[in-house]
Amino acid sequence: MTTLRQLTVQTLTHLMAGGQEKLPVDDEARSILRQWMLDARTSGGRAAVPEASGKSNTADVMSVEEKLEFLRKKAAHWKPALGLGTLRETMVFATGNPHARLMLVGEAPGYDEERLGEPFVGKAGQLLNKILTAMGLSRAEVYITNVCKFRPSMGAEQGTANRAPTREEIAACLPLIMAEIRAIRPMCILCLGGTSAKALLGCDGSVSALRGRWMECQGIPLRVTYHPSYLLRNESMGARRSVWEDMLEVMVRLGMSISERQQQYFLPQ
Ligand code: URA
Repeated sequence: MTTLRQLTVQTLTHLMAGGQEKLPVDDEARSILRQWMLDARTSGGRAAVPEASGKSNTADVMSVEEKLEFLRKKAAHWKPALGLGTLRETMVFATGNPHARLMLVGEAPGYDEERLGEPFVGKAGQLLNKILTAMGLSRAEVYITNVCKFRPSMGAEQGTANRAPTREEIAACLPLIMAEIRAIRPMCILCLGGTSAKALLGCDGSVSALRGRWMECQGIPLRVTYHPSYLLRNESMGARRSVWEDMLEVMVRLGMSISERQQQYFLPQ
């Protein structure tokens, strides 16, 4: 039987997934929540109920792993997106470290990602892995996700073809990525390509207009760079150096040391 306490946690968690971070509570509710909190603490477990400090905050209820698991389950049946009827049904969530300092956000899964159930595992993903390695990071250290959790559909004859998600598809998935950011609270966010940048910043503009400076999403420093697929199409030294300069900025922000060699990558010799 579901207890009142479990029901409360479920309800608060549901509100959190919908974007609500704070909830006013009256004195009676506050005192009940405080007692639950104390019970949870004295029984040795982690807090099973929200902090009762006037504003009940569901973020205090669950570990990051639990929040992500909850979001993953929620995303799998996310009606606002699936209800559009323009996205395929296999949900591809995210990969990497829930406690990552760096969160990378792409556009949407493609053929390979849908097949393997993981973001950035195709050609663009292989290039992304190389970029991370050059930075001295591994895939397992960072958190990699997409704004759109479903591969955009092109009908029955789609085969291996992919298309970019529409504004409507992005808008439908936006609450999920926003909740992921709230759960992880990385030290910085790197948007791979214009689609994720525009979604997280809520603005328009090309990658060249948006890159080159720090911006913010939910108060977290955010940097924009070209999508790895763009680099696969444009192998010029200029494009590679631009991306690398963005990565150097990210490394500085993360407090990583930068070698002389790393400083010089893709510069004319
Ligand atoms: N491109 C993206 O934006 N995301 C992926 O997961 C794969 C390719």
